[in-house]
This record gives sequence, C-alpha cells and structure tokens, in this order.
Amino acid sequence: MRRFLVLAHRVPVSGSFTLNDLAGGAGRMDEIARAVSTAFTLSNDLRRDVELSIVFAGAPAPAPRRIDLVGARLRYLNPDERSTAALLKNALVRSAAVDRPIESSPGLVVGPVDPAAALREFLARPGTVWLTESGGPLVDHPAAPSDFAAVVSDPYDPSDAERAILESSGAVPLSVGPRSLRTSQVLDVVQNELDRREARSR
Ligand SMILES: C[S@@+](CC[C@H](N)C(=O)[O-])C[C@H]1O[C@@H](n2cnc3c(N)ncnc32)[C@H](O)[C@@H]1O
Repeated sequence: MRRFLVLAHRVPVSGSFTLNDLAGGAGRMDEIARAVSTAFTLSNDLRRDVELSIVFAGAPAPAPRRIDLVGARLRYLNPDERSTAALLKNALVRSAAVDRPIESSPGLVVGPVDPAAALREFLARPGTVWLTESGGPLVDHPAAPSDFAAVVSDPYDPSDAERAILESSGAVPLSVGPRSLRTSQVLDVVQNELDRREARSR
C-alpha cells in the first residue's frame, strides 16, 4: 500500500466555497484536488493500492475535518480538478452537520479530527517519510513501493506545531529534487519513482 497524508491549511472546512474560485476563496482547494488526482489516477484507470488522507486544519470554524480516500473502494473520481474538488466539497458540506465519520461517497470517509493526533498517528507507522524541500534524496532512500507512507503539505508550509511534530517523530525528511514543487507535482514524482522500483523488482 502507498499511503499519503496531505496537510491542508486554508480550505474552509465547512465546504462553504465556490467551485469557481478554487485557488482563491477555497484556500487552494485546486491544488488539493490535483494532489488527489495525481495520487490515484492513471491513464484510464485508478491506482487501487493507494490511500490518501487530507487533514483540513480548519479555516475558519467549525472543527477540523479529515477526509480518507481508499483506492480499493473509490468511485466517482474523475481526472478533472473541478469534479474532484466537488467530491471533496460535498464531503465537507455533509460532514459539517454531523459529529461522526460518514462515507459521503464510495471509498471516501469524512469526519471530525484532532489534527495533531492524526498527524502523530500517521507518523507512528514505521518508515513513514516527510516530503520536504530540505530533505535527503528520495532516490537514495530504500523505501519499498508496496509499503510506503509519506506526509506532504499543501501550498502552505507546515505550521510551527506541525513542524514540531514532524521533526520529533523520527520521520525521514526526503526531497524529490532541487526545486520547490507543487504538492501534486511532488506526488507525481513519488509515484513515478515507486513505479520504477516496482517494475525493477518484477
Ligand atoms: C508548494 S510547497 C510549499 C511552499 C513552499 N515551501 C514555498 O516556499 O512556496 C508544497 C509542499 O510540497 C512538498 N515539496 C515541495 N517541493 C518539494 C521537494 N522538492 N521535495 C519534497 N517535497 C517537496 C513539501 O511538503 C511542501 O510543503
């Protein structure tokens, strides 16, 4: 399994944003949607061996939310950014009225979250890595393509609190290259590197 945790900082967690302003009033939901797309979509297929969680830290109230997407059961994920953003927005809107996790569409679970606890829990998995510009080269790291877990941030850097958790977790900081890339680009490079390793091991 390939697992990703995306830290989302400015998306309105109530889902009260328009799909016509994803890069503005939606707090860069455009990039979150692209990250979901690059994590799961292939040409005319979906990666079933991927799980991706997004922790929406909360901007503004109500409480923070988490969306878990499970590739093995995922449906209605189309390759375009707008429909992916709509799928995530629908989950946030439906979750705003309930205080427990719900499956808002097949393979997509949304619910309240303690962001710090969720990050710590994800990092507790042995071998979890932190994708960051200042890390060591991913290509030199012996991660297995079928057992990979990584934390990545949205277009905003991790908060001080998140950074403190990441730094004290023991997660290996890894970089995919010398330039600061968009979140979705980072996931593309990671998936490609893991695909290459998988192909070599066959
Ligand atoms: C757009 S960057 C964050 C903002 C960026 N630090 C800036 O100065 O504008 C989004 C996230 O992608 C990841 N990232 C970006 N470039 C990376 C790289 N070369 N290697 C690994 N992760 C990277 C990091 O998690 C980063 O927080």
